[in-house]
Amino acid sequence: MEKLKITGGKKISGTVEVSGSKNSTLPILASTILTNKKTVIKNIPLVRDVKTMIDLLSVIGSSIKFNKKEKKIEIFNKKKLKTFAPYYLLKTMRAGVLVLGPLLAKYGVAKVSLPGGCAIGTRPVDIHLKALEKMGAKIKIKNGYIIASAKKGLIGCKIKFPKISVGATENIIIAACLAKGKTKLINCAYEPEVKDLVEFLKKIGCKIKWVGLRSLDIEGVKKFKAASHEVVFDRIEAGTFIVASALTNGKLKIKNINHKIMSAEINSFKEMGLKILKKRKYIVVSHSKKIKSINISTKPYPGFPTDLQAQIMVLMTKANGVSTIKENVFENRFMHIPELRRMGAEIEIKGNTAKIFGNVKLNGAELTATDLRASACLVLAGLVATKKTIVHRIYHLDRGYEEIEKKLFKCGAKIKRLR
Ligand code: UD1
Repeated sequence: MEKLKITGGKKISGTVEVSGSKNSTLPILASTILTNKKTVIKNIPLVRDVKTMIDLLSVIGSSIKFNKKEKKIEIFNKKKLKTFAPYYLLKTMRAGVLVLGPLLAKYGVAKVSLPGGCAIGTRPVDIHLKALEKMGAKIKIKNGYIIASAKKGLIGCKIKFPKISVGATENIIIAACLAKGKTKLINCAYEPEVKDLVEFLKKIGCKIKWVGLRSLDIEGVKKFKAASHEVVFDRIEAGTFIVASALTNGKLKIKNINHKIMSAEINSFKEMGLKILKKRKYIVVSHSKKIKSINISTKPYPGFPTDLQAQIMVLMTKANGVSTIKENVFENRFMHIPELRRMGAEIEIKGNTAKIFGNVKLNGAELTATDLRASACLVLAGLVATKKTIVHRIYHLDRGYEEIEKKLFKCGAKIKRLR
């Protein structure tokens, strides 16, 4: 199994280019099921989850041309697609369940594996399913599969999500684009990645309008248009590089981003004393002599993202005082803490709150990654630890970060992938 070897203590400086967002690419790819017209999607991040979604679409019959060099995908659904999404493609990637809405809306039937278990919490899909039932679907769970049918098609209606869910919002937005009549969605997630999906859907001819911050009006359509779309940048990757630079006292230009859509993250980093110069398409992070402690609560957008919680925790081990993180989105997202403790971090957990003691020296160690963002946290810790750190099970990291070791190496890190 591949692992990363990191020798800590090198400054992360220079320039890094942020890739397209995985969390935007996945729902956009799933939504192409709706249309038989050609779609072109650009700024695709070369990460494992995207490859898995491409495999899933190919297995159900989409014609896909993936130009990796240009980071561009062309999709053309020439024939009727299969309506069966098998377990082996959903066991590693929850977002596979996003094919349920479009398949059901288009063909009136779908059999989609329940997504695999996940280290960060139970992560059910009940909100997705209840909303589809409200739109007229009959749903059964059998042998690990969601078996859904809507013989007369899905019917537009008013749905108020009981809880803010990124995936459920996306699944139902996509389904509503092909449902009969009007759908009103209330209490939606409006992460930049959800907004990017909506922009794409509008380009292919869907009638969608944001009405207020968390509500959407959608009118089902019958015909779509060919379209081209460039995926929004990955704000979590950008945040990870901010931490890498700040931890190592570097000066880093982070390119291909729009700081305006990551204000919560940037404000928190500034509160910690980081100097961040904001320009239209890039930011420059430079080190501050003292990193200040801070208290953070993760929340749905526009709050501080749960996906950056593990990474900022590493920076907190270097702060001047005690910091806290309250994890409000997932119930078990502190899996990285035992590994950080093995490096010497002093972190206490009480319920969903972690208390992180600053001014701590991290020592290199052999570590095991447990999930995607936890892996990034361990790599960051390795960058600032004494001596050598080995991070095992980096297949988690490869699910969502495009060649992170190459990008870090270019910025001065001593890091190597061992095969
Ligand atoms: C997406 C992101 C993930 C991010 C998360 C929260 C993608 C591919 N993944 O995941 O990186 O960490 O948003 O920002 O975009 N829930 C239910 N029932 C449901 C659905 C969700 O109880 O049917 C719960 C979840 O267990 C969790 C919370 O709602 O506690 C938020 O989850 P959700 O926003 O749905 O996350 P994902 O879409 O899976």
